[in-house]
Amino acid sequence: MLNIAENINLKGYNTFGIEAFCTYFTEVNSIADFQELITHPVFINNERLIIGGGSNILFTKNFNGIVLKNNLKGKEIIFEDNDTVVVKIGAGESWHGFVLWCIEKGFCGVENLSLIPGCVGASPMQNIGAYGVEIKEIFEELEAYDINTGSKKVFKKEECKFGYRESVFKHEFKNQYLIGSVSFKLKKHADVNVSYGAITSELQTAGITNPGIKDVSDAVIRIRQSKLPDPAVTGNAGSFFKNPEVSAEKYNQLKVDFPDLVAYPLANGNYKLAAGWLIEQAGLKGYQHHGAAVHNKQALVLVNMGQAKGGDVMELSAYVLQKVFDKFGVKLEREVNII
Ligand code: FAD
Ligand code: EPU
Repeated sequence: MLNIAENINLKGYNTFGIEAFCTYFTEVNSIADFQELITHPVFINNERLIIGGGSNILFTKNFNGIVLKNNLKGKEIIFEDNDTVVVKIGAGESWHGFVLWCIEKGFCGVENLSLIPGCVGASPMQNIGAYGVEIKEIFEELEAYDINTGSKKVFKKEECKFGYRESVFKHEFKNQYLIGSVSFKLKKHADVNVSYGAITSELQTAGITNPGIKDVSDAVIRIRQSKLPDPAVTGNAGSFFKNPEVSAEKYNQLKVDFPDLVAYPLANGNYKLAAGWLIEQAGLKGYQHHGAAVHNKQALVLVNMGQAKGGDVMELSAYVLQKVFDKFGVKLEREVNII
């Protein structure tokens, strides 16, 4: 049953824990709810914002419109042969809950993405990635609903134009579709990816030589817990900036002045720089601005020290951008969705 509430505090709906009010708020528990909602005058006449777990959003002001929290559930196996399985997951399912379900069933492919907060429906938005894997590698298709007409559209991988923290849903189709479910193609045997340095060392420390999917998941969880702040304790939205890409020429220049520069070569000849390293070297690790701070264990993450306003976090991010630019001549780009 559709219920539209008014003047709701979104503090509990964003992992930054920032106080911001929305004029209207509704939760969608079924496609029928959604179809009813889009005919409602409040929905038709207001700005809309879809949220899942609110773990990649910064509210800098109240939202003058309707917030739609997606609660569409369901986990279904839609295809299976000897080696592979295709699973269709409701957008409102917890991402990490889905990962644990795969591990329990012996489905391989998502274990490196353990413990990423938020919901399955947001995973294609920025092609979530961690520890050497991005969802584009296992993505099969998604079902989305036009938020004006309600009509259903299936997006295949090529149509999503996935890139590093990028997809069509952040650009040409921004705010146009409700993602209802996402399908992933997984392997039924362990074919783990332990290429990321931190995983290799974590497994070595644990004395594991022939890791299975649960070993990899556990290693990723331990690494993440050692440096990323738990949003239940300290408000944050993960990496606040993207790791910037620079030309080989720029990389070579920087390497002369900063021999310890952390960078990864890309297939196109460019280099990706570790933004956390740049921010730390700019002297900003632990730097505080009003209620916001640069996390003291991972400088790429900005945190709410308790009473931060969205504006504090934005001002801090502008300061970080400026300092990194002054020192390295590299322009960082925000990764978090700013409202
Ligand atoms: P929200 O924050 O609710 O929404 C994000 C965006 O997606 C918004 O623009 C929203 O409008 C849109 N959206 C959400 N659901 C839908 C839908 N059903 N249909 C249409 N649009 C929708 N990300 C990584 O990629 N890798 C990481 O390793 C990682 N680590 C993190 C660690 C921490 C501690 C935190 C707090 C965040 C981290 N993140 C990471 C970021 C975040 O968890 C992901 O981006 C996640 O996918 C966001 O999911 P969500 O449901 O919270 O999305
Ligand atoms: N580093 C520093 N100082 C710091 C932080 C990092 O020197 O304060 C150095 C590290 O020593 C390491 C390198 O930077 O050599 C990379 O650090 P890390 O492995 O922690 O990864 P990251 O590049 O900072 C990215 C993603 C994370 C993802 C991890 C693991 C982006 C923007 N961030 O962080 O994603 O979990 O890799 O794959 O690409 C997110 O998107 O919210 C997120 C947390």
